[in-house]
Amino acid sequence: KRVCLAYSGGLDTSTILKWLILEGYTVVCFLADVGQEEDFPAVEKKALALGAERMIIDNLQQEFVDELIFPAIQCNAIYEDRYLLGTSLARPVIARAQVRAAQKYKCDFLSHGCTGKGNDQVRFELAWKACDPSISIIAPWRLPKFFNRFQGRADLLKFAAENDIPVSSSPKAPWSMDDNLAHCSYESGILEKPELEPPANLWTRTVDPLKAPDVPTKFTLHFAKGIPTKLEIGGEEVVGSLEIFKALNKVGHDNGVGRIDIVESRFIGLKSRGCYDTPGLTIARLAHIDIEGLVLDSRVRTLRDRNVTTEWSQCLYNGMYFSPEREFLENSIVFSQKNVNGQVHMMVYKGSAYVLGRSSETSNLYSEIEASMDTLEGFSPEDTSGFIAIQAIRLEKYGAQKIKDGEP
Ligand code: ARG
Ligand code: SIN
Repeated sequence: KRVCLAYSGGLDTSTILKWLILEGYTVVCFLADVGQEEDFPAVEKKALALGAERMIIDNLQQEFVDELIFPAIQCNAIYEDRYLLGTSLARPVIARAQVRAAQKYKCDFLSHGCTGKGNDQVRFELAWKACDPSISIIAPWRLPKFFNRFQGRADLLKFAAENDIPVSSSPKAPWSMDDNLAHCSYESGILEKPELEPPANLWTRTVDPLKAPDVPTKFTLHFAKGIPTKLEIGGEEVVGSLEIFKALNKVGHDNGVGRIDIVESRFIGLKSRGCYDTPGLTIARLAHIDIEGLVLDSRVRTLRDRNVTTEWSQCLYNGMYFSPEREFLENSIVFSQKNVNGQVHMMVYKGSAYVLGRSSETSNLYSEIEASMDTLEGFSPEDTSGFIAIQAIRLEKYGAQKIKDGEP
């Protein structure tokens, strides 16, 4: 029987690879390139040395940006008011590509090294089920014969020594990381005490805001239908979705933009502490919210904020990407973005992003003449008296009742 294993080259998945082989499986290893910092050839070499039948490395950066990151920008996605969903966004593209690999190499099983307490196991497995329900799943960290044998890092290291699994000589950071184009996440280990400040050397995707340049960096981000289409920065024009996003990551990195440290509610019911640095997405989301202020209908905005943004974010967080509700929500997002065209002039400086101005050639919602306090053109102040009087009917009654009842 053949297994397609999500393999990172780390101690956990190397142990799982060897363990699966010892259990009699043939293993095809899969690693997605979603923009993480990684020595891909070294991972391939290690997988093959440990006995994998083959190693598949799939570059998914372009589809990650176009199908997940930019839609997240279009709907201002955010979870529990803080988390921009960096890990959640990458999972659907990774899971879908792993199913493609499993199908191509005729695998009977899909497997991963996610722990039994996290969100990622749920996301991978729900996506796998949706993409190909005929392939079975092996989740070693939920199998008693696996987790009883490997109860801690010491057991993994002992197994590694016995089975010629090379262990990196550089000491492992005392927390777990997940890196991709959107962000890097840091969780568990010493971070499990939420009252303690994360160490300064934890952050990999942003410089320390206190050490960022003393001069601000200005740039202009262009949108068409809510999607970034061009970045003007330092006299250059950057086009192409992946290139724009990478350039936003760079300017965000250099200026320390996008660090958060939160306690979040995992889908499985536990609370956990996570630190995230998300430079480009933090900037793009702010720019998008700002251009919407200029061009988006107020009622559409309210409905979208209350329903679509929260639901789409929840869908992604909970691993429900391949669901009818996600498609339904996305159709409404596309409609809402019809007129979200224009440009936002911005500045980043020592950890913060600021909007300096915005404009749109295609929207008629904002009119300088209409908004002006200095002219009455096209506006009759008498109408406003009626507007206020009618709005006040209910409130007058409520207020009168309170006075009658002697309530404050
Ligand atoms: N808590 C975040 C989330 O659920 C980050 C998860 C990071 N995953 C990982 N395997 N290190 O999206
Ligand atoms: C894991 O459990 O593998 C990482 C954390 C998470 O998935 O939330």
